[in-house]
Amino acid sequence: MESENYFDNVAPQWDRLRESFFSKAVRDKALAIANVRPGRIAADIGCGTGFITEGLVQRGLSVIAVDGSQNMLLEMKQKFAGLDLIDYRLGEAGSLPIQDEKVDYVFANMYLHHVEVPQDAIREMTRILKTGGMLIITDLDEHGFEFLKREHKDRWMGFARDDIQGWFEEAGLRDIVVDCVGENCCASSSCGSEKAKISIFVASGKK
Ligand SMILES: C[S@@+](CC[C@H](N)C(=O)[O-])C[C@H]1O[C@@H](n2cnc3c(N)ncnc32)[C@H](O)[C@@H]1O
Repeated sequence: MESENYFDNVAPQWDRLRESFFSKAVRDKALAIANVRPGRIAADIGCGTGFITEGLVQRGLSVIAVDGSQNMLLEMKQKFAGLDLIDYRLGEAGSLPIQDEKVDYVFANMYLHHVEVPQDAIREMTRILKTGGMLIITDLDEHGFEFLKREHKDRWMGFARDDIQGWFEEAGLRDIVVDCVGENCCASSSCGSEKAKISIFVASGKK
């Protein structure tokens, strides 16, 4: 998949790139909304090099970290070497390598706009949640910056919050809230002529 090659290629630089796009405030907000508890088990889907996972293990959770890019997972393993709270799994959006009803929380940060069929990815993330567990997605609001498709292999130019709400409902989630993170994602095109500043939403729902 073209987008996987992109992520395999950028994996060694991903942490630096990510820091230029958005801050740790995104993670803090997602984890606060989930009210994560030590000892619980979470999945970080499209984990990259472990931005969300890092916050989870700092709070005493164990994490199943899934990504479609082998190189992202290799970078992440080096970063968290010796930490036995993380289970690394190579996997695809459409068939996550996690059994039904396995985890208390599913997080997906800046993943949804890369998948082929977002509503299917939401349904699949819901499948692995225990009853009472929570799905928390942080991603981009709808935008008009085409260069992100060309240069960063985005498939979707963000999402309408009503669509996210509808897909959560279709997946069978309840107590759904789609809100602002209060932070923007910022990126410049390679030629420097375009500068994107896109608001970030956080969507949560319970199974
Ligand atoms: C923009 S990065 C975000 C990484 C991480 N969540 C973070 O916040 O730094 C998107 C990640 O999703 C993964 N990804 C994209 N499409 C995927 C798919 N269809 N299945 C599994 N992983 C995918 C990529 O390999 C990449 O690591």
